[in-house]
Amino acid sequence: MPAINSVIGTPLSASATRVMLLGSGELGREIIIALQRLGIETIAVDRYVDAPGHQVAHRAHVINMADGEALRALIELEKPDLIVPEIEAIATDMLGLIEDAGLARVIPTARATRLTMNREGIRRLAAESLGLPASPYEFADSPEALRASANRIGYPCIIKPVMSSSGKGQTRVDAPDQLDAAWAYAASGSRVNQGRVIVEGMIDFDYEITLLTVRAMGEDGRIETHFCSPVGHVQVNGDYVESWQPQVMTTAALHAARDIAKKITDDLGGLGLFGVELFVKGDEVWFSEVSPRPHDTGMVTMCTQVQNEFELHARAILGLPVNTALRLPGASAVIYGQMDEKGIGFAGVADALRVPCSDIRLFGKPESFLRRRMGVALATGVDTDEARARAKLAASLVKPVKL
Ligand SMILES: Nc1ncnc2c1ncn2[C@@H]1O[C@H](COP(=O)(O)OP(=O)(O)O)[C@@H](O)[C@H]1O
Ligand SMILES: [Mg+2]
Repeated sequence: MPAINSVIGTPLSASATRVMLLGSGELGREIIIALQRLGIETIAVDRYVDAPGHQVAHRAHVINMADGEALRALIELEKPDLIVPEIEAIATDMLGLIEDAGLARVIPTARATRLTMNREGIRRLAAESLGLPASPYEFADSPEALRASANRIGYPCIIKPVMSSSGKGQTRVDAPDQLDAAWAYAASGSRVNQGRVIVEGMIDFDYEITLLTVRAMGEDGRIETHFCSPVGHVQVNGDYVESWQPQVMTTAALHAARDIAKKITDDLGGLGLFGVELFVKGDEVWFSEVSPRPHDTGMVTMCTQVQNEFELHARAILGLPVNTALRLPGASAVIYGQMDEKGIGFAGVADALRVPCSDIRLFGKPESFLRRRMGVALATGVDTDEARARAKLAASLVKPVKL
């Protein structure tokens, strides 16, 4: 596949190289900043006004990205060279038509965005087509089918809507009498109420990682795969609260992790950074899921790497070389809204920044919710233990306040 263009144009002129972000949250905002530093014209799209990425892009649009016709109309209006999905809930069939018509290149590919938006697509590809190790699983379309599947998979198991993210609609079930509640919760937490769930056997892992994997153009015009140091993380109810880099792994586990990541990203194809989520126990590694884009747990790279995950994505998608080297051990800790309120304030920022080697990002989201991610604290240290303690302390010192 050729690089988009060996020449980068001038933003806001006829020669501009234009990139459209579909989803403009905190991850999209950092991608936009990285692109702008390379002289790219950026167009931020989200479903609500004043999303984080809207606040820094050349142009901002608010549309329902699950509406294929609305999406196509905007793409025809803006004529981006590249379309960079930042979220999963997009009319991915329309992205396929747009790619086929040669209107724009979808990152990493329209097929990858279609497969990864649905747990069924990516799980069947990974476990059945590629033979990668994964938890046992079945899909169910009714409470009765769920009961039968869960009984076959065994307990504990995890029930998830096939289309959801950040742990929404997900329940750990320890006994059959919890299944009806899990079914109802999955239906309420699904992005699109499809009435279809995955039942996964619980993996009793020692730790879980995100292996940030980059497909970038080599000097010889062939795509090369680069790996970042593994990112360890803690999830609460399926949502990330803390991450660190590097996660120490055995050599065998690291090799197995890279092998899985290479196989899945080779199959998904295209250029860009992927977040490959893996479970690890001793030397054994299981595939969990993959994001064909920067990953929330990878925000830690803003303080640990020579080029953070957003810069790596920006470079890779433009056909430019990348450097995945680690600079220092570091950690990230999430700052939650802690209240349902619009236009909140953040007290204690100075205290947070007095924590040695710390930094924070506040995302500028117009509305806070109790468990909405409003910012993140970052910190480096001599090792990840020190970095984690610093990041958690800095995050705890930032106090959301009602103004
Ligand atoms: N089969 C499983 N075994 C053990 N833990 C799991 C399993 N599936 C999910 N989890 C836990 O829940 C988290 C979120 O699940 P995931 O499938 O990544 O959902 P999401 O798409 O919402 O991120 C995982 O990072 C892990 O901590
Ligand atoms: Mg996940």
